[in-house]
Amino acid sequence: MTAAGRLVVVEDAAALAAEAARRFLSLGSDAIRVRGRFTVALSGGHTPRAAYERIAATWWQAPSGPLDWSRIHLFWGDERFVPPDSAESNYRMVREALLDHVPFTAANIHRVETDRASDAADAAARYEATLRQVFGLKPGAWPRLDLVFLGMGADGHTASLFPGTGAPDVADRLVTAVRVERLGSWRVSLTLPVLNYAADVIFLVTGADKAVPLRSVVEGPPASPPYPAGRLRPSEGSLVWLADRDAAPWAPEDGR
Ligand code: 6PG
Repeated sequence: MTAAGRLVVVEDAAALAAEAARRFLSLGSDAIRVRGRFTVALSGGHTPRAAYERIAATWWQAPSGPLDWSRIHLFWGDERFVPPDSAESNYRMVREALLDHVPFTAANIHRVETDRASDAADAAARYEATLRQVFGLKPGAWPRLDLVFLGMGADGHTASLFPGTGAPDVADRLVTAVRVERLGSWRVSLTLPVLNYAADVIFLVTGADKAVPLRSVVEGPPASPPYPAGRLRPSEGSLVWLADRDAAPWAPEDGR
């Protein structure tokens, strides 16, 4: 365990998806048993997608029996400002990888409503209102998600908190709009304080192109300026980095 959380290395992307799904089922069973519901923020990206596909294939094997999807609330850690049926949409990716295969409750699927917003800032404001309503937040309060799945880019971004955009420093709201010039696109992202208030944060990291930022954020020395992913320090929660061998060639094979 490091100050930056616990690194768990598995052999390959398939093993990582299986471990991520196992943790989802375990955390979900516990949350539903203890608190009556399971609130999860999902990430975009190829690595997270494989985990969702694995959850879709195994949800009925959760530790205390099939997950009760009527008690699971899904959110998005970030979304591209595109229509929900766009090939770029993280909502569409989760629908294809997970929702189309499980008995979810529509009222509990809280996507970023890009199709109802005038621009990314409007979408962010609407999403913030959704979070405040679902969590029953008083003004000034923060939502405590049970689980946040995050990916990491080769540039050390996570969610849509990209270096150089200012988004990683936004701390006065729950959701922010992000202009990513390098991608020529607008994004909507949960802010770092929301991510850092979660009970369990699990990074899903595969590929040799992540090895440099991953080692920096897990072992140090920190980059300057720090990678956005390296700023995840849950204040009252657990942080786990699930990595495949390609992303963590320096690290010992880890247990569970
Ligand atoms: C997105 C994600 C992004 C992603 C990383 C890792 O919307 O693209 O939120 O943060 O998780 O870029 O993606 P890969 O797992 O595909 O490398």
